[in-house]
Amino acid sequence: MSEKIARGTVRTTRSDVLLASAGGRGVLCGIYDEDAADTYHDLMQDADGTAEAREFADRIRPESGPVLELAAGTGRLTFPLLELGHTVTALELSAAMLDILRKRLENEPPDVRDRCTVVQGDMTAFALDERFETVVVSSGSVNVLDDAGRPGLYASVRENLAPGGRFLLAVAVAEAVKSESTERQQELSGLSGRRYVLHARMSPVEEIHEITIYPADETADPFVVCTNRIRLLKVDQVVRELEQAGFDVVSRTPFASAGQGSEDVLLLEALPRVAGS
Ligand SMILES: C[S@@+](CC[C@H](N)C(=O)[O-])C[C@H]1O[C@@H](n2cnc3c(N)ncnc32)[C@H](O)[C@@H]1O
Repeated sequence: MSEKIARGTVRTTRSDVLLASAGGRGVLCGIYDEDAADTYHDLMQDADGTAEAREFADRIRPESGPVLELAAGTGRLTFPLLELGHTVTALELSAAMLDILRKRLENEPPDVRDRCTVVQGDMTAFALDERFETVVVSSGSVNVLDDAGRPGLYASVRENLAPGGRFLLAVAVAEAVKSESTERQQELSGLSGRRYVLHARMSPVEEIHEITIYPADETADPFVVCTNRIRLLKVDQVVRELEQAGFDVVSRTPFASAGQGSEDVLLLEALPRVAGS
């Protein structure tokens, strides 16, 4: 096989089959990598985080200062938070995602742009100059971290929270956690009009959700195959991990939008336990 593979990219059962037939045209990349940026942006451009941002904003005190958003991606949640009047520090690991976020910010009026600070960083190990009263993580983002990465996230959040601050974490209650192993495939249309195939494999036994996205046109050159592996996490497990990391989970609230065709999401509100309490 002579396909190009970006470092650190996960292979999926589907990507192996696809790349075997694409030969030299095949490019395998992680969904958040540079080679996938076009595909990601084409498919995600109109993904609207407004409803999710409102769920967070309901729990952010207006006077609480800048909000730290972790794993901000291309800003699906960042822009609605800015629109709601918050000042946001958006931390993200992928340079490709950050490029898109920065370009989007350039198109915003100065009063919005000036309220956003963009930081390239690893949410499992970060130390910023400022302490935040609110740290938020969008739904799906904690799932990108493996068992070794999540403790680093919780420890870094504790370190970067101001006294009395809160950690707001949206956790998807993946259906597959409750059911058997499944595979499904669907065609998607990008905003550019390009067609893609999304193949998803959920394996509760392996506790993973594998995603493979590739061109519907089998002759595409390059034939870019984007992959991602998400951990299927039970909410109770995340709550337990937070408690072990020294947080008290003071509320778990279902998103108001839950049950309307999208997956169910719970918003966890966690406060660092104060020594001696
Ligand atoms: C499910 S996406 C969510 C993006 C965005 N918050 C949204 O709601 O659209 C997960 C994001 O986490 C980023 N990411 C993965 N590992 C990370 C890490 N260790 N630190 C910071 N960001 C990371 C990915 O690059 C990706 O942009």
